[in-house]
Amino acid sequence: MNTEEIMNVALKLAGLRDVPNDSAIFVSGRGIQKVLFGIDIGVSELMLAKKLGYDAVISHHPPGGMVTVNFHRVFERHVQQMVSVGVPAEEARKAVKRKLGMLEVEMHIRNYAHIIDVARILGIPFMNIHTPLDEIGRRRMDEQIKKEIRDYSKVRDVVSALKKLSEFQNALTDIKVGLGNLENLAGKVVVSHGAGTNGGYEVAKTYFKYGVGTLIYIHISYGDLEKLKKEVKDKNLIITGHIASDSVGINPFIKELENKGIDVTTIGVVKG
Ligand SMILES: [Fe+2]
Ligand SMILES: [Fe+2]
Repeated sequence: MNTEEIMNVALKLAGLRDVPNDSAIFVSGRGIQKVLFGIDIGVSELMLAKKLGYDAVISHHPPGGMVTVNFHRVFERHVQQMVSVGVPAEEARKAVKRKLGMLEVEMHIRNYAHIIDVARILGIPFMNIHTPLDEIGRRRMDEQIKKEIRDYSKVRDVVSALKKLSEFQNALTDIKVGLGNLENLAGKVVVSHGAGTNGGYEVAKTYFKYGVGTLIYIHISYGDLEKLKKEVKDKNLIITGHIASDSVGINPFIKELENKGIDVTTIGVVKG
């Protein structure tokens, strides 16, 4: 396989047509049989791959941080996701504005070229696949919930449904109820994931305003959670855990590569 074909495997599984702005092939390659896959790849992992004779390295997170010229296109997936569950488009756009502005300012801090240049110097094929794998994870979690949750289900039932995914059983982190409690009725449940990063306080608040009873985030900042706790009553936020949740989307992709005869070694991925 070549790097383009590997990217296409992920796009196909995610149901996406184009490569999102937070995913890219930095050093292309062909005849790939042995892959090192890491949730985060740095210089040391590239060196390790070279030393151990891997044909290519794939990172989940964009190397050096979420730095891309058109990152807003990825983060605006929150808008589509909100609209698809009944949030008015204007309100959804307002909800992403502040955090998107913050992320764009903070991107300037990052040394985004460092790891990519090392891959070029080493001459090792290198790519990252972020949103497609998160979209696979969002769909898996969403399907799991739709299968098990009824009108009378409680937050406890949503957590139990998610825990049937083996990644959540095998993870060191536990699924947390950040807001609300296990005995509350779940109401309308939405998985918010696969849009660059979590939508923070504003996106959560907007979902709640427009009828969502239980929202699922894979992570949230402490400050945003504290703010939600102060301002939101009778709603629930389930936090599933970053690495466990990323792994939910990564494992089907790894399995598909293995089905195509590729030998994959993973770093940091929770077993499925
Ligand atoms: Fe992810
Ligand atoms: Fe992640």
